Amino acid sequence: MQDNFSLKPYNTFGVEAISRYFAEIHTIEELKEAILFSSSHSLPILFLGGGSNVLLTKDFEGVAIQINLKGIIEESVDDHSILVTAKAGENWHEFVMYCLAKNYGGLENLSLIPGNVGTSPMQNIGAYGTEIKDIFVKCSVLNLDTLEIETFDLEKCRFGYRDSIFKQEGKGKYVILEVTFRLTKKDHIIKTEYGAITAELEKLHIEAPTIQDVSKAVINIRQSKLPDPKITGNAGSFFKNPTISLSQFEDLKLKFANIQGYPNGNQVKVPAGWLIEQCGWKGRQIGNVASHQLQSLVIINATGNATGKEIFDFSTQIINSVKEKFGIELEREVNII
Ligand code: FAD
Ligand code: EPU
Repeated sequence: MQDNFSLKPYNTFGVEAISRYFAEIHTIEELKEAILFSSSHSLPILFLGGGSNVLLTKDFEGVAIQINLKGIIEESVDDHSILVTAKAGENWHEFVMYCLAKNYGGLENLSLIPGNVGTSPMQNIGAYGTEIKDIFVKCSVLNLDTLEIETFDLEKCRFGYRDSIFKQEGKGKYVILEVTFRLTKKDHIIKTEYGAITAELEKLHIEAPTIQDVSKAVINIRQSKLPDPKITGNAGSFFKNPTISLSQFEDLKLKFANIQGYPNGNQVKVPAGWLIEQCGWKGRQIGNVASHQLQSLVIINATGNATGKEIFDFSTQIINSVKEKFGIELEREVNII
């Protein structure tokens, strides 16, 4: 256990925040020790994976625990599928690459998402037409009250768009230890219908794409518009794409003829990036913080010197602008600490 520890290298926004205590854990025993230390000192816990979906707005008066459990286990089911279990501390993209190298299908559309495997169920990570719920089988968690290991299956996780039980009633009650996915060994389902994948494959002159080709296309698209956190601090999309009613969408369409929307029954999902851009925020910088010039949904630590509070205040200004112009309340996707 280390004290007065800087979390700057442990969050992809690259903001400074001092944690009262810090422990990097490699085994479940170390994890239990750190939890017991926190409870015996009545201190709150902050679990960290890759720190790519948190905004630290102040110093943390508790115990930050970085989950570094490692290991991948494979279990063949039949000729067609395989169960692959990865420990929470495995890097997500490296795990995707490991599976693609073995020609296991299902994760390719989720290439290049930062962070760790153990965090993937938190917000049911998703991109380019796939969410982890599509291949998720179960995860093992440690119950923080009982210190017993429990298993959460698909139903129990209650996955939704950027949502799960771990962000709702299970918030702060469990730490995820490992996640199991069901992947295909052959006859892979190739998903190219989303966004710019087809156009990117055409550019690469690929007519019958493999799962590896889809991964390459997704990586190219992501690299063309998302800032690399190693160079520019960010946490990906700062807000969720809001869902509004069909009638509100139709009213807005009368005023803003080119508003985009993806209907789903009586609801329409509206791209937050478009709303933010229309409010004039794209590429705009205030102090150390900016909206990314290629993707306005991404807030960046433009100078490298931003504080978490500055980034939070910048995001509040965006929420206010969008509310004023469109009557839509944006919800933050990033976990505010
Ligand atoms: P962290 O930031 O470390 O933690 C996130 C939350 O989970 C925190 O509240 C933390 O306390 C909690 N937590 C961490 N580990 C555990 C654990 N083992 N058990 C319980 N709680 C835990 N997300 C998408 O869904 N799709 C995208 O396309 C996408 N693109 C991104 C692009 C960029 C450039 C960046 C920077 C981020 C992007 N994200 C995306 C967001 C982010 O990568 C994901 O949310 C990722 O799953 C976060 O993982 P992490 O390990 O970094 O989480
Ligand atoms: N758009 C604009 N202006 C912008 C940004 C976007 O008009 O500045 C428009 C685009 O033209 C496009 C639409 O908004 O028509 C959607 O944009 P994009 O395809 O870039 O996707 P997104 O909705 O902004 C979502 C996820 C991403 C995920 C991509 C690909 C959310 C909150 N974000 O972004 O996830 O990678 O789709 O599937 O759902 C993340 O969660 O951190 C993240 C990066």
